[in-house]
Amino acid sequence: MKGLILAGGAGTRLRPITHTSAKQLVPVANKPILFYGLEDMASAGIVDIGIIVGDTRDEIMAAVGDGSRWGVRVTYIPQDAPLGLAHCVLIAQEFLGNDDFVMYLGDNLLQQGLTEFTERFAAARAGDSPQPPSAQILLAHVADPRQFGVAEVAPDGGVVRLVEKPADPPSDLALVGVYLFDATIHEAVRSIAPSARGELEITDAIQWLLDHGHRVRHEVLRGWWLDTGKKDPLLESNRRILETIDARIDGKVDELSTIEGRVVIESGAEIISSRIRGPVIIGENTRVVNSYVGPFTSIASGCEIRDSELDHSVVLDESRICGIAGIADSLIGRWVEVSRSGRRPRGVRLMLGDHSNVDLE
Ligand code: DAU
Repeated sequence: MKGLILAGGAGTRLRPITHTSAKQLVPVANKPILFYGLEDMASAGIVDIGIIVGDTRDEIMAAVGDGSRWGVRVTYIPQDAPLGLAHCVLIAQEFLGNDDFVMYLGDNLLQQGLTEFTERFAAARAGDSPQPPSAQILLAHVADPRQFGVAEVAPDGGVVRLVEKPADPPSDLALVGVYLFDATIHEAVRSIAPSARGELEITDAIQWLLDHGHRVRHEVLRGWWLDTGKKDPLLESNRRILETIDARIDGKVDELSTIEGRVVIESGAEIISSRIRGPVIIGENTRVVNSYVGPFTSIASGCEIRDSELDHSVVLDESRICGIAGIADSLIGRWVEVSRSGRRPRGVRLMLGDHSNVDLE
């Protein structure tokens, strides 16, 4: 089985904060979103992975490289314009050949891995059913299905119909961005026409499979799932991932500090006279001095947190927070400095990038 990761498409709205324009590279718990999908593929034993890249190809290629870090082989497949998820399959045909493959949307984060999902597809195809499935989709109950592809499932469990972002959803079952296909999908993506939004929709290609008598197996997701391309993604994703990390202390913690709960302290990091209350991750070479870092906080590498208190926040690389208590629910970009100068007249002096948002006491 091969893998296809979709990392083209439009860039991130977090660009002024993250310094990456690829939404798939926005860090969650100090790791780019895309890497979670790559890791899941590698753990499911998938070694041949194609990555669809668009305008942000240079950033993606620099971050992922040849895949050897995960023990996989990565082939980059350039897409000239974001013409849709089924268009990605169309241009990946040479790479995919006639193999079964898992397609993974590069901005999706899932709690469950891919191993069992792919094994059950293989078992259903190898079984003695007169009609083995040609595709397998993953569905999740969501509050607002209108922002997703939506499935209608018959009482007997068969998938009846799929619609992309319907105004009037037939159910609350959204398509999660992980799909399994056999080679039949190539005929489907060649046969469909662009949707009203001008894209070749994978949802329409799967509907084509159903209309032509092919079976589409489905599973309903266990655990959580985030489409990070949607609203307010970063703090929420960060919270979910931090809940799953394994505690590890590779850096230095002095005897005046306390570490509680699930905490990762990367090598070169130093915790001095501070209290860290997990789940928290502190990146390489970050110094936390005389401070409190509370639950659901990720601090990236090379930062300094001094005489401060923060929780439920994400701080990216090389930033400095000094003498500030009560930072919460905050997203702080790279090379940011938040401090007190004590200058007169008293006031808040700001230098904020585009789309910034400040909520003062
Ligand atoms: O997240 C699940 C949803 O993903 C499904 O419920 C929908 O059925 C499916 O169409 C998709 O909807 P989105 O509108 O969220 O897709 P988006 O445009 O955000 O693209 C998903 C990923 O694929 C993202 O990493 C960008 C990449 N992409 C997208 C397009 C349109 C490409 O690489 N090329 C493309 O042409």
